Amino acid sequence: MQFFVDTADVGEIAELAASGLVDGVTTNPTLVARTGRPLFDVLAEICALVPGPVSAEVAATDFDGMLREAHRLAEIAGNICVKLPLTWDGLKACRRLSAEGIATNLTLCFHPAQALLAARAGATFVSPFVGRLDDIGHRGMELVEQICAIYRNYPETIRTRVLAASIRNLGHVVEAARAGAHVATVPPAVLRAMVQHPLTDKGLAGFLADWQKTGQRIV
Ligand code: G3P
Repeated sequence: MQFFVDTADVGEIAELAASGLVDGVTTNPTLVARTGRPLFDVLAEICALVPGPVSAEVAATDFDGMLREAHRLAEIAGNICVKLPLTWDGLKACRRLSAEGIATNLTLCFHPAQALLAARAGATFVSPFVGRLDDIGHRGMELVEQICAIYRNYPETIRTRVLAASIRNLGHVVEAARAGAHVATVPPAVLRAMVQHPLTDKGLAGFLADWQKTGQRIV
């Protein structure tokens, strides 16, 4: 499974990308607004930090407007992946951009039928929103499971990758991997929490204490 980081905070991205464990970045208008910075500056900086796909979302809702914005966003860097809402116009724009060789991420996916259309439109990624379905009393992960199972039925024709989004905790990451999601986009705090375990800390403290008693050094 690949890991994208779900933030527009350049400082956070720089710190996490230095680990070599970040395969890409997803942003959305809310995350960009949270930075209080100009969109194009933020995206250019992120694209320079992370060689993998950087999702940049259009704000237009009509086909022509989406295409205009997509082309402008794609000029920022070669690794921009244009994020489009899963609407009829979004699908049309996706189809056109795919034909032009521009990477796309179809976002706000809440039903497997939408994911089928995203694949048909040639989307590079489809983003099922797990946490937001949990928020309204559904089991969001069921959506990821269904999309992965459906896509597996068409290995010859469906190339769209399942990008589990709206990830809120470690359980979501693990369950998305079990379902076969190709990518999870995770908030920085969740990515950091993935390595933490009290028994790891306790075990390490014990090993270090015993090692010190030997009086030896490795280098
Ligand atoms: O990038 C889209 C997505 O991950 C949003 O997450 O937590 O706002 O539902 P959230």
